[in-house]
Amino acid sequence: MSDFEEIINTRRSIRQYDDRKVSDEDILKIIKAGMQAPGSRLGAEPWEFVVVKNRETLEKLGEIKPRVTKAPVAIVLVSNIEKAFYKTVWQQDMGAAAENMLLEAVNLGLGALWNGVAPTEERMEKVGKIIGIDDITDTKPYCIITIGYPADGWENKFMDKFDEERIHYEKY
Ligand SMILES: Cc1cc2nc3c(=O)[nH]c(=O)nc-3n(C[C@H](O)[C@H](O)[C@H](O)COP(=O)(O)O)c2cc1C
Repeated sequence: MSDFEEIINTRRSIRQYDDRKVSDEDILKIIKAGMQAPGSRLGAEPWEFVVVKNRETLEKLGEIKPRVTKAPVAIVLVSNIEKAFYKTVWQQDMGAAAENMLLEAVNLGLGALWNGVAPTEERMEKVGKIIGIDDITDTKPYCIITIGYPADGWENKFMDKFDEERIHYEKY
């Protein structure tokens, strides 16, 4: 199996982490992977990233998304609509970045979780306030990616999700 196949096939949602810190270098690599994602318009992608390591802030975010509480680090993906050329497809742009980040975490021997925020307005507003966004009209918290070394009992491992019945050839 190539490294790529290994990563894509073993990525799992890792919801609990041990006490080890994630290095700044690894955090940066994960964000860089996010920025390598396809976007609806080259050079006009909406993504921005807020790195949160402060325990109090993580706990506040955890009141909205419980899995954030104990994570060593969380990255809030924020869509800055003003930067976007195609403003209506920001959720697709952000989703592509999020998936790249999850895969890079696996590549680095880490575990990660996509904690959904958008499109629920109330959640977006609450998350926004915690990280310094008072108005979500143009600056929208999309999701929170928690990252850490998997706790005992949690690991990136293969789970077969293939379902042949969902494949259609030529016509649906
Ligand atoms: C849009 C989206 C939102 C998600 N939100 C959450 C969440 O809030 N909490 C959580 O524990 N998992 C969340 N997940 C992770 C899914 O539950 C997980 O990907 C799914 O159960 C499949 O498991 P796997 O990631 O191990 O393949 C989310 C995933 C996506 C794509």
